[in-house]
Amino acid sequence: MFSAVFEPDAVKKIEMTLVLEDKRSGDAGARAPVLSIVVPTFNERDNVRELVRRLDRCLDGFAWEVMFVDDDSPDGTLDVLHELSRTDPRVRSLQRIGRRGLASAVVEGILATSSPVVAVMDCDLQHDEALLPDMLEELRGGECELVVASRYMAAGGVGDWAKSRLFFSRVATTLADMILRSQLTDPMSGFFMIRRDAFDRAVRQLSNQGYKILLDILLSAQPRLRVREIPYTFRQRLRGESKLDSIAVLDYLALLIDKVIGHIVPLRFMMFACVGGVGLIVHMTALATLNRGIGISFVVADSCAAVIAMTFNFFLNNLLTYRDMRLRGFWPILRGLLSFSAVCAIGAAANVGIAVVLFQRDHAWWLAGAAGIFVSAIWNYTATSIFTWRNVTKAPRPIPDDQGVYAGFPTVISAASPSAEVTRT
Ligand code: GDD
Ligand code: MN
Repeated sequence: MFSAVFEPDAVKKIEMTLVLEDKRSGDAGARAPVLSIVVPTFNERDNVRELVRRLDRCLDGFAWEVMFVDDDSPDGTLDVLHELSRTDPRVRSLQRIGRRGLASAVVEGILATSSPVVAVMDCDLQHDEALLPDMLEELRGGECELVVASRYMAAGGVGDWAKSRLFFSRVATTLADMILRSQLTDPMSGFFMIRRDAFDRAVRQLSNQGYKILLDILLSAQPRLRVREIPYTFRQRLRGESKLDSIAVLDYLALLIDKVIGHIVPLRFMMFACVGGVGLIVHMTALATLNRGIGISFVVADSCAAVIAMTFNFFLNNLLTYRDMRLRGFWPILRGLLSFSAVCAIGAAANVGIAVVLFQRDHAWWLAGAAGIFVSAIWNYTATSIFTWRNVTKAPRPIPDDQGVYAGFPTVISAASPSAEVTRT
């Protein structure tokens, strides 16, 4: 049995859980998993079956489960997952609606499981699943609480990466090194295994921002985690597309900023304020072009510039600040734009009103102006977070052919108990 090989002193907590599991394993098929593998998915329909097949092969003899966290993929990933779960109780899934984000998906997946050890890996078969038993072995010794599969150790590799991606990945790693001050070769890895009690030390401090969940965990855990790395080669993605776009670089910087000063000013507010700053430049450029360049009257030019800047700000916020709950589709975007404009119009009135009152009371012009901007920024941020980005879109999932399943009745369950087939000792 798996528990027998754990060092009793070194990993007391894990052993306690395993003992419980041992007792229950008396009744056939009710064996609680020792290892949960959490896999975030977005449009991975063509990869999930193969991943489960591979896990089944390489984890032969272990009590494991896999928890897919799907952000309502439009390609029907969830249908494949449900189909798998109906015959294999080791396959579980969590569906999130109106949300996006790899890091938060991973965290919620981990929280939805209870096994003493959790692994995190991608669904696209780029991570070498054959490493999982070795990673467990590393944790077993008790000297470390987190095992990271690294692409940058002597024997590891990144396969056929474009030079630019390799460059960014290296820069990001160096930057993380400076903040982490650890000797990790690959703090950006999306493939790692952690003891639950170690994860618990970090979970309440996580930023849950963007892609870099491992880095987030490393920066959040107190006291610091004892980590070990093992090498592997990052494979090519064969099916589906990578979701890591150029904005992921920004996401990454945002995570680092949040870790350094996020406890003072919320990251989202900082992004909102930066977008506001960019909007100011857009406004001035538009005003200069319309008034100075084309010769339109100042009043008309300035009004047009305000509308252009507001529209620009709305789209930039939708793209960056509210990336995880981005409004999509014509009507949601139009509604969002209108509510955003209405809120900002009130904000602008408050801005001027406060500045004028302060100025009349003999405060310095710059102080009056800054106070107006400050109050309107806070108003705009708070009000748009409620009126513009709170109502997430709930697009219906495509209805599969097999209607029976959605009426709540499992259509066919094979005569042989599914769990009997999949339980191993
Ligand atoms: N639930 C959910 N929500 N899953 C997502 C989302 C999302 O918004 N975005 C991506 N995923 C899933 C994908 O379906 C895949 O299983 C996994 O997360 C990784 O996404 P990829 O799009 O394949 O990422 P990548 O290969 O470019 O990046 C990988 O390598 C990076 C290192 O360079 C990931 O492992 C990163 O975590 C890692 O930092
Ligand atoms: Mn990938």
